[in-house]
Amino acid sequence: MANQAKRDLVSIEDLSTAEILELFHHADEFRANLLGWSDLCRGTIMATLFFEPSTRTRLSFESSMLRLGGGVITAADEKNTSRSKGESLADTVRVVGGSYADILVVRHPEDGAARVAARYANVPVINGGDGAHEHPTQTLCDLYTLWKQKGRLEGLEIVLCGDLRYSRTIHSFCYALARFGANIVTMPYPGFELPDYVLHRLRREFGVQTAAASVSDLPGIAGSSNAAAYLTASKPHQLALYTNLTNVEVNRIDAIYMTRAQRERHSGEETLNYPRLTRSTLGAAAAKDASIMHPLPRVDEIDYEIDDDPRSIYFRQAELGVPMRMALMAFLLGKIQLRAGRPATMAVAPGIVAGPGLRCRNERCITNNEGVRYLVRDFRLRDNEVPPLLTCAYCEREIEARFVGDSQARTVFRYNAPEARHVEPAHRVYFESEAQAQAAGYGAAGG
Ligand code: NCD
Repeated sequence: MANQAKRDLVSIEDLSTAEILELFHHADEFRANLLGWSDLCRGTIMATLFFEPSTRTRLSFESSMLRLGGGVITAADEKNTSRSKGESLADTVRVVGGSYADILVVRHPEDGAARVAARYANVPVINGGDGAHEHPTQTLCDLYTLWKQKGRLEGLEIVLCGDLRYSRTIHSFCYALARFGANIVTMPYPGFELPDYVLHRLRREFGVQTAAASVSDLPGIAGSSNAAAYLTASKPHQLALYTNLTNVEVNRIDAIYMTRAQRERHSGEETLNYPRLTRSTLGAAAAKDASIMHPLPRVDEIDYEIDDDPRSIYFRQAELGVPMRMALMAFLLGKIQLRAGRPATMAVAPGIVAGPGLRCRNERCITNNEGVRYLVRDFRLRDNEVPPLLTCAYCEREIEARFVGDSQARTVFRYNAPEARHVEPAHRVYFESEAQAQAAGYGAAGG
């Protein structure tokens, strides 16, 4: 498989906190003299492979590479690529990341597609958005903008609003906010709350605690939602500001991050009374110093009348996307070195043996779509979870493995049976149900 030494950006977790901060400083340098870097990546080619619509992400990447002095090749419309003939993403990236390009930016409608691209391409792969999963470079732009605006990220109070379920920008942003010690107030459109797997990961990796939030001063901001939640991380910053989280009254908001309804990922759900930021909502005292953010494109969620409000920074987020992406690409291509170390978590738990028949529960995962033809399902075992918890290595959705099999004896046990503990780690096979184990030829011991 692909070159092991390269760095990819599939998830925001692929960069350490110190690396992100160092990249901000490089972005500042690029920005101070946008036209002065045309020798840095001379002779380098970036390919953008976009199998979903895009304006900002693709064009800002292309502009960034051109400003760095490199060249750009692009497949901007899947109708014009061999995907429409049935070619797999794995084959496309193997070819384009062969002699055609030195770095790839991939956008794809299926969750987990970016991990597939990173595994099969021999050159660095940047996730330009994979289904509803992650969009880490948007997060870099969002964090960079917020950091410039507020001078820090730690301790900020950030409201996330709208379609938190399907917005990939929100998912990457949440992980980063928790890591930087910002507090999150979720104000979802009802039925579009943060997915459980995102909340579980926030809890597992950052010790995020959740409480009911009361933002009574912001009437109507989340349409008819009254389910605001307050998320605060207790590690690695050990903020632990709130020891007794039952209901948190939010009186000061540093930023409101609005998102559009991701209609292309819905199955026909109505989004009547979707939240909308207007001059009157933003007149609330708590929002006095709140920056208004949006990854764009906006549909109706932000009234055009507040574009001129000094708090609105959504066009700035898009503008800063160029220097930020220049810094990221220069780094991944080895044109600038960072002093900061890579993330400790990059040494991920090795894949475990998932029992035959075990498949990702996420119907939008690439392993259940085009990957059915060629991907080997791959699950990671999370430490210290009871019952054992497996996460899909592509889209990160979770599965509870309630049955543990012994691949030598072809026997299966409930996870909490004493015999389950005695199965040699090398022979352990995981199943969701007894029926799944039986279908794979595993039987009860002595039975
Ligand atoms: C976002 C995306 O594609 O996820 N757009 C972007 O890249 N700035 C947000 C969206 O489409 O709503």
